[in-house]
Amino acid sequence: MKIIAIYNIKGGVGKTSTAVNLAYIAAQDGYQTLVWDLDPQGASSFYFRIKPKVKGGSKDLIAGKRNIEDLIKGTDFENLDLLPADFSFRNLDLVLDSRKKPTQQLQKRLKPLAREYDFIFLDCPPNISLLSEAVFKAADIILSPLIPTTLSLRTLEQLKEFIHNNELSNLKLLPFFSMVDRRKKMHQEMLQSIPEYHPDMLNTAIPYASDIERMGLQRMPLGGFVTKSKSTQAYNSLWQEVQEKL
Ligand SMILES: Nc1ncnc2c1ncn2[C@@H]1O[C@H](COP(=O)(O)OP(=O)(O)OP(=O)(O)O)[C@@H](O)[C@H]1O
Ligand SMILES: [Mg+2]
Repeated sequence: MKIIAIYNIKGGVGKTSTAVNLAYIAAQDGYQTLVWDLDPQGASSFYFRIKPKVKGGSKDLIAGKRNIEDLIKGTDFENLDLLPADFSFRNLDLVLDSRKKPTQQLQKRLKPLAREYDFIFLDCPPNISLLSEAVFKAADIILSPLIPTTLSLRTLEQLKEFIHNNELSNLKLLPFFSMVDRRKKMHQEMLQSIPEYHPDMLNTAIPYASDIERMGLQRMPLGGFVTKSKSTQAYNSLWQEVQEKL
């Protein structure tokens, strides 16, 4: 089992779209795949048309009072399951903080799933919090979408510093460009210059594209309603790169 967290301190950068689409591709490839929607907004639950509701909420979940397998829902797609969000996830930080070794709790809850899943994608809320620390502890890879702007670059540097200061050296941080609009001069410039300072950036850039935006109307992963496009190709290539790093 490999755990891939889709994470960025910033909001609205394409985390959920990435989690949903990569999970779909992995499942299509025949891998047993789970998406855990950790964001109380419930966006990935929405994309899979599953009610963002977890019996017992964040408290029972983190306390291990419920069998995690019982909370998982099947999606409309083969090999692809979802652990939905719940509005109580807005308190995940408080719930984690109330426990001993808060940053180890997520890892602990995920452990029993190793038998069943090849890949688990964590769709993380934005911000840097205790939950993020628990995510960093649990994940094998942090996949981080980056919109090519100066501010995004700053948050990437903050994240790197955080990982460094917290001695999370085993954690693989893989940033990649997201929502790239090649008509924008700033995007073009950043695409050229950033990899020089951050050689760990993946080569794939996800374009700003209307079919990706349409996932919200279709309420399904891109591959569910588009057979082949620049966007599906970009997500396929991103998945190839991620697998090579595992
Ligand atoms: N490559 C893209 N091209 C066009 N629109 C996109 C692209 N990626 C995401 N979007 C749209 O941008 C919005 C934000 O995307 P998404 O929900 O994936 O980001 P997020 O980082 O998960 O946001 P949040 O921080 O709120 O969880 C959504 O409406 C989504 O449809
Ligand atoms: Mg999201």
